[in-house]
Amino acid sequence: MASVSHQPVQGMSDIASPDIALWQMIEQRARGIFARYRFSEVRTPVLEKLELFTHSLGDTTDVVTKEMYMLEDRGGRKLALRPEGTAGAVRYVASGGEESSNARIFYMGPMFRCERPQAGRKRQFHQIGVEAVGVPNPLADAEVIALQVHLLSAWGLEGAEIRLNTIGLPEDRAAVVSGLREAIRPRLHELPEEARQRFETNVLRLLDSKDPEVQKVISGVPPVIEFMSAASRAYLDTVIATLRKLEIHVEVDASLVRGLDYYVHTVWEVVHGGLGAQNALAGGGRYRIDVGGKRIDGVGFAMGVERVIAALEATGITAAQFAPPPPVFIVSLGEAALNENLLLMQMLRQRGVACEMELSARKVQAQMRRADRSGAQRVIIRGDSELEKGIFVLKNMIDGTQQEVELPELMCALEKS
Ligand code: HAM
Repeated sequence: MASVSHQPVQGMSDIASPDIALWQMIEQRARGIFARYRFSEVRTPVLEKLELFTHSLGDTTDVVTKEMYMLEDRGGRKLALRPEGTAGAVRYVASGGEESSNARIFYMGPMFRCERPQAGRKRQFHQIGVEAVGVPNPLADAEVIALQVHLLSAWGLEGAEIRLNTIGLPEDRAAVVSGLREAIRPRLHELPEEARQRFETNVLRLLDSKDPEVQKVISGVPPVIEFMSAASRAYLDTVIATLRKLEIHVEVDASLVRGLDYYVHTVWEVVHGGLGAQNALAGGGRYRIDVGGKRIDGVGFAMGVERVIAALEATGITAAQFAPPPPVFIVSLGEAALNENLLLMQMLRQRGVACEMELSARKVQAQMRRADRSGAQRVIIRGDSELEKGIFVLKNMIDGTQQEVELPELMCALEKS
């Protein structure tokens, strides 16, 4: 029979020990911060109706047209693996799951985008995100950014920068698009073919192009805010003033546009110098999504966990620092001791001591090698002769010393450590 490949799907990874320690630290600390800001967790399905994403993210966005994993189930229903968490979270709020005038939710989990895999870009990646729904107010935008900064510091991540911009309201869009086109038109011939098409289809996306030829043309264009209404400018001013009051530093970046259509007003990205070309740790912004006959206004962000980890590692923080405490290892000699040691191991575990032992009767040397590999700093050795005498040999693996002890002494030594 042909054997099946043990490789996961390209661009997707198994995440396990020892790396998992860093993931657990990130998730645990995030939960602590979310509790303080009164956000509660939602776990929405990984699979949603395709139309939820085409409608809310925008049916001409790259995520929808090029990256989404789409499938038809056996009943012919069109579904998609979620490429991000906002659409599902908002659908959940619209379904009546939360008060849509003030819902504060967070999520953690896998997202899927069929992009070309490269450093920092996976096909299954993980986001930790928050959405504050209702409260269409610039103070809510600032509060969510403050939460994000708090999260970064709880993780011990230094060197992250926030770039912030506004994309205004849908009512501003026509003025922004025609203003940008007017400003670019005299130099249109300098743009490469693909950019000239973008000029027609989505001129805003030219602003964040990485192509140096496009950047040269764009550098002379006025910031989008100049084409926006007074109300949209005032909104951004309040967000910036509030952040200043909260002593949160952001870089206003007129070239920042986000790749999803649901945004209105404030948008931002968190970048980190320790990452390569894919330097965005997180993306966020205020959005407006019509779902289930309701218009949902919200503001939120999502951090890419793989990128947070890469940034932490670039600053010298590693999984080893968060590894679980070493276990106590029990070595047995003889059948009777093996059975009694099983009881001892359960008793120690009940008392909060992490414990491991070899369950098949193997030579002492083999058991000691396994003890070593487990990282144990203390080993209990009990064979049939110790059993008869009612004693235990407690070995210190760091200095190699060992002593014979009775049960009360053994418990005392292990519970203290
Ligand atoms: P996004 O900018 O598309 O925004 O993704 C957020 C973050 O997810 C990115 O900054 C990045 O760290 C991570 N990410 C995205 N794609 C990949 C990938 N292929 N591989 C690894 N990491 C990736 C959103 O998803 C919005 N839903 C954010 C939001 C929430 N806006 C408002 N609320």
